Amino acid sequence: MNYQWYPGHMTKSVRAMQDQLKLIDLVIEILDARIPFSSRNPDIDRLGNGKFRLVILNKADLADPAVTALWKAYFEGKGIKAVECNAKAPGLAKSLKPVIAEVCKDKIERDKKRGILNRPIRAMICGIPNVGKSTFINTFIGKAAAKTGNKPGVTRSNQWIRTGANVELLDTPGILWPRFEDQTVGMHLAFIGSMNDQILITEELASDLIRFLRKDAPGKLEAYYHIAGAPEGAEHLEDSVLRQIAASRGFLKKGEEPDTEKASAQTLEDFRAGRFGRISVERPE
Ligand code: G4P
Repeated sequence: MNYQWYPGHMTKSVRAMQDQLKLIDLVIEILDARIPFSSRNPDIDRLGNGKFRLVILNKADLADPAVTALWKAYFEGKGIKAVECNAKAPGLAKSLKPVIAEVCKDKIERDKKRGILNRPIRAMICGIPNVGKSTFINTFIGKAAAKTGNKPGVTRSNQWIRTGANVELLDTPGILWPRFEDQTVGMHLAFIGSMNDQILITEELASDLIRFLRKDAPGKLEAYYHIAGAPEGAEHLEDSVLRQIAASRGFLKKGEEPDTEKASAQTLEDFRAGRFGRISVERPE
């Protein structure tokens, strides 16, 4: 199957992002902790050049914690601080406050030397669609949110939101795009539901997912559905697994034939919700 990501209004969004970058000190880049490589914009290092940087490995509640620790070390090896996060959990601003202060310590020091104390750090959230940008912003600002847009000189399109962490956030996140020329990237985005399912063939996607799980998380899907799975080397292995899932869930078509399409949709939904356990799709090289 061809996993295709449509770039859409890419040029427009690069330009908007470049304009916004002029205003900020810190780029907070949100990635999906299950697929940090595939959910990362290929141009972010160029776009964020000269800014303080922080990577958020979001949806870490769905990823394998041991693999997330490897990703943190991977980014830190590149000189970029990375933290794991569940953007749905409260207390985000409190836990990130010391991290942001550490990442931006040069600016804080510089301000201090000039006699400027507690000038907020201006930050922008960015990431590809569906990584949790809006959820992150809402949890981060919590109830303390106060828009600063009514100050003179602040245009409606760029509003700063004050947060409890001595950080002002740009209210609109920067929407980036993934590497759309790479089929594996497309497949991984599709696994986690970040690609429009309507353009994909559900059974083929579920079959690709079953193949991945057999290799990287063996036994988890079988345990969840209470099925034996297909033996190594079996012909039409994925189809056999899907038929077993259909039978165990009672998804039957007319004539008692297992409904593998319904089983495919269910498998994808269960994987995306983390019901097979915390599984990371990608590990650092
Ligand atoms: P975006 O702005 O980057 O496009 O992403 P958004 O915040 O809309 O989040 C996309 C989906 O991911 C939402 O689910 C959101 O609840 C979920 N999400 C965000 N952060 C986390 C996280 O850390 N852990 C988990 N498990 N989920 C997260 P949805 O199904 O589209 O909406 P809803 O049913 O939650 O309302």
